[in-house]
Amino acid sequence: MKTEIIYSQFEEVEDIIILMPLYEESLSEILISPKLGFEKLIKDIVSDTGFRAEHKQTAFLNTSGEIKTKRLLLIGLGKSKEIDLEKIRKAYGNAVKKVKAEKLPGFTVLLPVLSNNLEPEDVLTAVIEGIELGNYVFNKYKSDKNGNVNIEKYRILSNSKNLEDNRKIILKAKNLCENVMLVRDLVNESGSSLIPSKIAQYAGDIAREHNLKCTIIDEKQMETLGLNLILSVGRASINPPRLIILEYIGDTASKDNIMVVGKGITFDSGGLDLKTSSGMETMKMDMAGAGAVLGIMKSIAQLRLKKNVIGVIPASENLIGPKSYKPGDIIISYSKQSVEVINTDAEGRLVLGDAISYGIEKYNPKYVIDMATLTGAVLVIFGECVAGIVSNNDYIAKALYDAGQQSFERVWQLPLYEEYKEMIKSDIADIKNIGHKSGYAGTITGAAFIQRFARDTPWVHIDIAGTAWSESEHEYISKGGTGYGVRLITKMLEKL
Ligand code: BES
Ligand code: ZN
Ligand code: ZN
Repeated sequence: MKTEIIYSQFEEVEDIIILMPLYEESLSEILISPKLGFEKLIKDIVSDTGFRAEHKQTAFLNTSGEIKTKRLLLIGLGKSKEIDLEKIRKAYGNAVKKVKAEKLPGFTVLLPVLSNNLEPEDVLTAVIEGIELGNYVFNKYKSDKNGNVNIEKYRILSNSKNLEDNRKIILKAKNLCENVMLVRDLVNESGSSLIPSKIAQYAGDIAREHNLKCTIIDEKQMETLGLNLILSVGRASINPPRLIILEYIGDTASKDNIMVVGKGITFDSGGLDLKTSSGMETMKMDMAGAGAVLGIMKSIAQLRLKKNVIGVIPASENLIGPKSYKPGDIIISYSKQSVEVINTDAEGRLVLGDAISYGIEKYNPKYVIDMATLTGAVLVIFGECVAGIVSNNDYIAKALYDAGQQSFERVWQLPLYEEYKEMIKSDIADIKNIGHKSGYAGTITGAAFIQRFARDTPWVHIDIAGTAWSESEHEYISKGGTGYGVRLITKMLEKL
């Protein structure tokens, strides 16, 4: 979608439709003190449709020549005192779907009146996020795309003459949304198509386009290096694993860097501990952490963030075959800690363990953030709307929490008490890859395993198994891959 910002009188705007946000109070005001000339029509709509400008309510209205645009879509924002950025995202995401259902190719949108101390920049960003992300569909494989009318262009009616500043905000927000949608596309892509080497290719493309350094470690180099946890997980597949590293140097004067690591299991069958058919159905999404890392690296490069950020992706399939790694195997990890495999379906922590040890040794990061669709248990705790986090450092956990509140990609911390660390100790090796056999504290013991590789480096683990995939369509979150993590971590890195 093309976006333009214009400065004009509302009455003078000429378009197919104008999206007009209204608070409940402003609707009452309009009805009491008419200014627009078509208050009667609004009154009729209110009595005909019950439109009260409640949050997410919408109503179409045909004007009768009072203004240049013939059609309006009224968007309810609820009470002005209760407005926040998320309500704005949702209201506009919902509205854009109504426009699509009417098969209209474009629209002009009015911005909400500022309320509740919201900053104009944040409001404009939220409007763009609602529209762009609400418009997303994955229809690459649909032969008949007519069901989805593509909105070609929308215009934003600015209430200030300062269009240049607004253009920058729009470009920034649109770039971020494009990166979120890139991750959605990657997560929605077939597992048989998006194999580890394909993720490496995407990383290479991003590196070329944005001037990042990209290193791909293939299976032969992994043998030499001793990245045995990644190799073991990937061994049953004809598509060998890759360890992918992207380096963004935004601050040449500093040696500090932040490392973002993403689980890149391009398909998780469970391995010999095979998943059930329903458990396996969505397992092409098990690379959502890796996708998020790609989206984040692209975002910070576009922002020219003045920080150094290293993106690390262990990419592998987890399949079954004559070479499968087996329950009971003992593997010497890159860190030299020995790992007893209890369950081949707890593969994410294995690939992450090696990737994190290798990354820390090579880059000595100040902070490590890992994102992984690690446990079904996190869905039991939080469902699809919050990610579970576990950390060894309060500062980084708090920074992440704050970024979660602002982006509404929310996180909630779980404790990493000694008892949990005890639960992953093995009788015959240093550690084992599951905690309790009945899955007690599954999300925390998964994190406790990863902590053994982060050691004392300030680290936070984000379990995105619930948030990376949505079973249903929401206002601006599409069914399937959600692109979770791009807005969250970009925001966090901006503030850190
Ligand atoms: N990829 C799965 C976790 C998952 C489950 C992601 C549901 C998204 C939705 C992970 O590799 C896994 O299988 N975890 C096991 C761990 C268990 C064997 C300790 C799980 O959660 O059941
Ligand atoms: Zn698994
Ligand atoms: Zn997995």
